[in-house]
Amino acid sequence: MTAKIMDGNLLAREMRAAWKGRAQHLAEQGSQPGLAVIIAGNDPASRIYVRNKAKACVETGIYSEIHEFSENVSQDEVIRRIQELNENLRINGILVQLPLPPHFENDKVFASIAVEKDVDGFHPYNVGALATGNAIFPPCTPHGVMHMLEKYGIPVEGQHAVVVGRSNIVGKPMALMLLQKSATVTICTSKTRDLAEHTRRADILVVAAGKPRMISAAMIKAGAAVIDVGINRLPDGSLTGDVDFDSVKEKAGYITPVPGGVGPMTITMLLCNTIEAAERAQTQC
Ligand code: GUN
Repeated sequence: MTAKIMDGNLLAREMRAAWKGRAQHLAEQGSQPGLAVIIAGNDPASRIYVRNKAKACVETGIYSEIHEFSENVSQDEVIRRIQELNENLRINGILVQLPLPPHFENDKVFASIAVEKDVDGFHPYNVGALATGNAIFPPCTPHGVMHMLEKYGIPVEGQHAVVVGRSNIVGKPMALMLLQKSATVTICTSKTRDLAEHTRRADILVVAAGKPRMISAAMIKAGAAVIDVGINRLPDGSLTGDVDFDSVKEKAGYITPVPGGVGPMTITMLLCNTIEAAERAQTQC
């Protein structure tokens, strides 16, 4: 079997076109959606992500601001900026790019974002809302994955979903979203014994471990949907996922490529959440 490739670029284009109309509608009424992105430090990958987010905002009709801080900025200074942005009517969404410098306590920073502007879905209130099945802003990467499963008609209810990775950004919210759709969910960590024993039972396998090509064909069930959230840069400069694409695509039923799979959907969901925040703000006026 050769897997069907799940094209994140295509779905992202379709969704952005639809949401651009909503952003335009808001702008015509004097309420153009606005996103503020905060970045602290010099992580080169983060700088590229932030630039890509700003570019996507422009293309979708969203106003954006980038707030840059040095690596040694104090946490209080960043929180003060967030508090200003909470009050800024031009801004509907606030995103704090991760990773923050090591002296930061991520939870305190996220807790300082106004819940109604937390378009990343990382505020403790939004995390709790997701856990109880009432997500306000679902975190962007796992939300993008759910859209891809839907787009390709992959059933979730009753299926065995295995998530490799338990990060707050991807693994945990991913597992909660699959659970909410009545999948049977297994979460694996770097300490899981005999990982392959679990991954081979997956009808849906989501891999977000940050280890290049760690999932081989021998580790999956024939016909499984394999979602690769990993983006790893190899020494030769090329990008690869956490899944060994060339071998796994010969056995899986569906597979996401890297690049061009989950990545474009993550930014798309950020744009959608920002436009939705602006729509909610407008109805409250
Ligand atoms: N760094 C890597 N992925 C993400 C994300 O989805 N949101 C934020 N804020 N930072 C990230």
